[in-house]
Amino acid sequence: MEIAALNGFKDILPDETGLWRRVEETARDIFARFAFQEIRPPILEKTELFKRSIGEATDIVEKEMYTFVDKGLTMRPEATAGLLRAVIEHNLLAARPQRRLFAIGPMFRHERPQKGRLRQFHQLDVEVLGGAHPLIDAELMAMGALLLAELGLTASLEINSLGCPVCRPAYRENLLAFIASRAGNLCADCQRRGATNPLRVLDCKNPACRTQVEEAPSILDHLCPDCARHFADVEAGLTSLGVSYKRNKFMVRGLDYYCRTTFEFLTSDLGAQAAVGAGGRYDGLIEQLGGPKNTPGIGFAMGMERLVLLLQQKENALAAASEADLYIAALGPEAVNACLPLAHRLRERGLRVAMDYEGRGLKSQMKQADRLGAAWTLIVGEDELKNGQAVLRDMRDKEQRAVALDAAQIASLLD
Ligand code: HAM
Repeated sequence: MEIAALNGFKDILPDETGLWRRVEETARDIFARFAFQEIRPPILEKTELFKRSIGEATDIVEKEMYTFVDKGLTMRPEATAGLLRAVIEHNLLAARPQRRLFAIGPMFRHERPQKGRLRQFHQLDVEVLGGAHPLIDAELMAMGALLLAELGLTASLEINSLGCPVCRPAYRENLLAFIASRAGNLCADCQRRGATNPLRVLDCKNPACRTQVEEAPSILDHLCPDCARHFADVEAGLTSLGVSYKRNKFMVRGLDYYCRTTFEFLTSDLGAQAAVGAGGRYDGLIEQLGGPKNTPGIGFAMGMERLVLLLQQKENALAAASEADLYIAALGPEAVNACLPLAHRLRERGLRVAMDYEGRGLKSQMKQADRLGAAWTLIVGEDELKNGQAVLRDMRDKEQRAVALDAAQIASLLD
């Protein structure tokens, strides 16, 4: 009998590893620009760690964890808890009370697999420890937005505040009263979880519940003065950094450790799996896990499968709209004369080749290559011509390499 991979566990095949590398390399480059250091905690941790941080009444802990029940161990469903455990265990905040750390790797959640939702998936996870300043929140979101932009992806940013232990209890009471008054109109799930985890009702996808929730009290109207000021400063920070965002007063995160700022990067291009990344503040968590007192923290994670899917969709759309495989940018009349036979040889090999005969400047020819959706550009100037060499540029990742002016060799490099 043939043995296949498990449902929700995906092989990343050689055709895809290039995109995975692009995502990871872009992320590492950006994380370094924002002074983050890498940490690599293990995949297996004590189950208790996730119960205490993510929360017992969450979907993740209640139903989605891969747990070795007899050993009390769990495959990490997210990166934050293990990362904080490592920071506390190795006393990393002693010498440097503020730290910026990132981790990259596989996570495990027993969810129903769908496009963009797997049981083994990968996160790019970043955490800023030891800083409570609202500009850290804004800067972190700006970094997420920059990562998406440098990958050529668009997503919208939604933000909310979940308040703090001072203001949340009163809001919770308010919400509980609202839920009780609408109980008859809510789905069975919400009627059940309304009492234990009322915030989850705000997040229910059931259309009947959504209609009711429209009128639910908003946490943003119940923030204490400190939380309200923090939220206003985060918004001002985002504006000063030029990051566009939208308030979503009903945003609820599926993990209990959050307080104050929460945020999500959303896309409409992945069907039901709209979040490419998400995170927020967790000011009490480090202390709660046994770390130093009064050590705030904030972070987010992006789903790498979702980023790769978006890149694949974008490349497929570009390929469908493309009018040329290769654009030859011949700079000057001699280059034009030498390149026309080369273009002909490549066309004989079945490639769609476009070129310009006027010998215009490089900039305007590169624009033309973009307009035609060429996957590759061959740049041939006078110097290149003398050496019998040219520069082949991959228009998707902008990588360049030197190639001989030889049709067979060039054709073999275009995939
Ligand atoms: P999360 O919202 O559970 O947050 O996950 C973050 C991101 O991981 C999601 O936006 C999504 O892109 C990706 N993701 C989650 N589950 C799956 C899945 N089953 N398949 C594919 N991708 C998935 C956290 O995990 C928090 N630890 C984020 C954080 C860091 N908060 C503070 N620091």
